[in-house]
Amino acid sequence: MSNKKKLRIGIVGYGFMGRAHTNAYRQVSRFFDCEYEPVLKAACGRNEEKVKAFAENWGYESTETDWRRLVERDDIDAIDIAAPNNMHKEIAIAAAEAGKMILCEKPLGMNTAESKEMAAAAKKAGVKTLVWYNYRFIPAVTMAKNLVDAGKLGKIYHYRANFLQDWTISEDVPLGGQALWRLDVDASGSGVTGDLLAHCIDTAMWLNGPITSVSAMTETFVKERTHSETGEKKSVGVDDACAFLARFENGSLAIFESSRYARGHKALYTFEMNGRDASFAWDLHDMHRLSYYDNADGDLRGWRSIHVSEGEHPYMDKWWVPGLNIGYEHSFTHCLYGFLKSLEDGEAGFHPDFSDGVKTDVVCEAVLESAKTKSWQEIE
Ligand SMILES: NC(=O)c1ccc[n+]([C@@H]2O[C@H](COP(=O)([O-])OP(=O)(O)OC[C@H]3O[C@@H](n4cnc5c(N)ncnc54)[C@H](O)[C@@H]3O)[C@@H](O)[C@H]2O)c1
Repeated sequence: MSNKKKLRIGIVGYGFMGRAHTNAYRQVSRFFDCEYEPVLKAACGRNEEKVKAFAENWGYESTETDWRRLVERDDIDAIDIAAPNNMHKEIAIAAAEAGKMILCEKPLGMNTAESKEMAAAAKKAGVKTLVWYNYRFIPAVTMAKNLVDAGKLGKIYHYRANFLQDWTISEDVPLGGQALWRLDVDASGSGVTGDLLAHCIDTAMWLNGPITSVSAMTETFVKERTHSETGEKKSVGVDDACAFLARFENGSLAIFESSRYARGHKALYTFEMNGRDASFAWDLHDMHRLSYYDNADGDLRGWRSIHVSEGEHPYMDKWWVPGLNIGYEHSFTHCLYGFLKSLEDGEAGFHPDFSDGVKTDVVCEAVLESAKTKSWQEIE
């Protein structure tokens, strides 16, 4: 056992994100220098056999089958919410009231009202929060942010982002249950807007500032699906696809698109930003590269493809040697590292926190409202 300060973790959910977060808890102190070290105290899931198998595989000391028990435990400092969206609010508010830090998956709430309640509860309790908008922490994406902050792009004119998948095209894909809760509006709150566009919106506002108005359209292509647990036919209440126009406070214009019906695309998250002096573009399928065009390059002007893997690039001095790639899972480790560093200085804030999560939920809600009412929505 090291003599670092301990951050004792209790996690709810052992699915996709339960594994991604736990991997980060296990790796962060080995690769990054921080005063705090996560301790895998307890994993929680409703199925005792499955949660025990998860805990054993990943090294959690104990298990719970009721998240309320987990939140009440006095040997836990932080609650990690890696459960479906309809669980976030209740768990987060209980965790805040119990004085625990909260590391919550996105979208923060099922809607803006929920996420505001969560943020208010955390603020009232004075607990530190994190929302797992992990894409900010991919080295090439962080490098893009550094370029904006250094003023390399000059005045910004355009932002565009896509998040395209194709996994729900078949009418036979059921609705409800592990991973498939995304198609059940009662568990997810929305479809691609809260699931995929929330990531695009978080990154966009981080890079380009607040969004002030949106005009959207959505579609649900398959209207009925069979619930995987009850076997009943249920009407599909989520948006299968969404496209929207947006204006940013800095005067730039944007276009966003997301779909789970874009045949051939599995997780094509791309964004591009065009300024007066330079542009960049990024693609999750080639995540360690940043495309960059600088108008000051004279007759050598052209799109460079920067392999973001050198020691001077964000986070990369902590990993292998220049030229070697890291992966998707490292974004969670970097996000966690930032959170742990913020604990070292009580005053330092960590972002994205619950206040950032609320801002993204507000835009998501305006997008859905715009599609419903076929009107532009202003965002305050
Ligand atoms: N940051 C990202 O890139 C990213 C990626 C995927 C999912 N997510 C978010 O992570 C969250 C979880 O998604 P996932 O893909 O891991 O889902 P998943 O279906 O793979 O896992 C969900 C887990 O929650 C557990 N669970 C459900 N209800 C519970 C309850 N009442 N008590 C205890 N445990 C319960 C399930 O048993 C399962 O272990 C969602 O909010 C989702 O939007 C974020």
